[in-house]
Amino acid sequence: METFKIAVIPGDGIGPEVIDEGIKVLNKAAELDGSFSFDYTYFPWGCEFYNEHGKMMDDDGMETLKQFDAIYLGAVGYPGVPDHISLRELLIRIRKEFDQYVNLRPIKLLKGAPQTLKKDHTIDMLVVRENSEGEYSGSGERLFQGKPEEVVLQTGVFSRKGTERIIRYAFEEAKKTGKSVTSISKGNALNYSMVFWDEVFEEVSRDYPEVDTYSYLVDAASMFFVLDPGRFEVVVTSNLFGDIVTDIGAGIAGGLGLAAGANINPTREYPSMFEPVHGSAPDIAGKKIANPLAAIWSASQMLDFFGQEQWGARVLTAMEDVLQDGSTLTPDMNGNASTDQVGQAVTDALDKKIK
Ligand SMILES: NC(=O)c1ccc[n+]([C@@H]2O[C@H](COP(=O)([O-])OP(=O)(O)OC[C@H]3O[C@@H](n4cnc5c(N)ncnc54)[C@H](O)[C@@H]3O)[C@@H](O)[C@H]2O)c1
Repeated sequence: METFKIAVIPGDGIGPEVIDEGIKVLNKAAELDGSFSFDYTYFPWGCEFYNEHGKMMDDDGMETLKQFDAIYLGAVGYPGVPDHISLRELLIRIRKEFDQYVNLRPIKLLKGAPQTLKKDHTIDMLVVRENSEGEYSGSGERLFQGKPEEVVLQTGVFSRKGTERIIRYAFEEAKKTGKSVTSISKGNALNYSMVFWDEVFEEVSRDYPEVDTYSYLVDAASMFFVLDPGRFEVVVTSNLFGDIVTDIGAGIAGGLGLAAGANINPTREYPSMFEPVHGSAPDIAGKKIANPLAAIWSASQMLDFFGQEQWGARVLTAMEDVLQDGSTLTPDMNGNASTDQVGQAVTDALDKKIK
């Protein structure tokens, strides 16, 4: 029996509510399979922890996390703690220090998911977002603060290593699945970083003559996400652009309650981290109405990562069964079920499929 050691950081707001449901589904998959299991260790890190201890995680937190096979995270951020502290000192710190340089965000309209777009489109893309540098590198300067001559610099950092490895990852993914790769950049305005990005994309593409390639400016790509999403298969883009276009992606593929993400360290030197894209949703926290499907989808990504792709796919099918049935959905999907009822419905659907 293979046991996967999971560090669980439920975090703030609806984080703990949705994570419970993802764990229910993971446990059901393990039980039905019988050849693997999960061993969870919970960490109370987040904004409440910050208010008590003045820090977002224990001093030896990163060292502790290294011992795990994966991290399952709910959401961080809550009113009262500035977002740049809560995100940078926990979430972004883990992504960076564990070199989780790939952020995988599937944008797929599941069967039965609410349709935002008027026309029937095939929406099935995988956005490969650069996750370690770019516009979120945290480098810059604030000079003459508060004075009339104040100057603020936020530097986008694009290294050859960082740019090449993310583009190559996207090509490998496309080659494996027989899909095209689309690069999203902005070379016409960002005359250093994005011209460089386009050059590296061109260079790497030469190693993959069998993969069809497209390149769009981020403004045009944003429009096509809405008007013609079917043209995108594997998409590769920078940290900031990826953050924004995947929210458009969430909008066209069922909403934030269905948007999942994985932060991958492809070398597996450090644990990878799985989390829903949404935040802690303070407006609905504690009401037990948060949609757990995004967290469950990220659990399915975790199953893929552990080589249990058949279970990852079965979890998605179970989610589709629940969506198509339509009787057990949370209010954001016009239903009246609670978070745990939806989690239970997916777990039952998974069970039913196998038995
Ligand atoms: N990865 C993360 O941990 C992450 C991501 C984004 C925002 N945040 C943090 O979360 C806090 C709130 O941010 P925000 O309000 O901009 O974004 P949010 O994603 O928390 O919420 C945006 C809107 O979507 C709704 N929503 C989100 N997830 C939902 C779900 N699962 N089910 C039903 N409705 C859902 C919320 O009720 C809210 O109306 C902030 O502190 C922010 O920094 C954290």
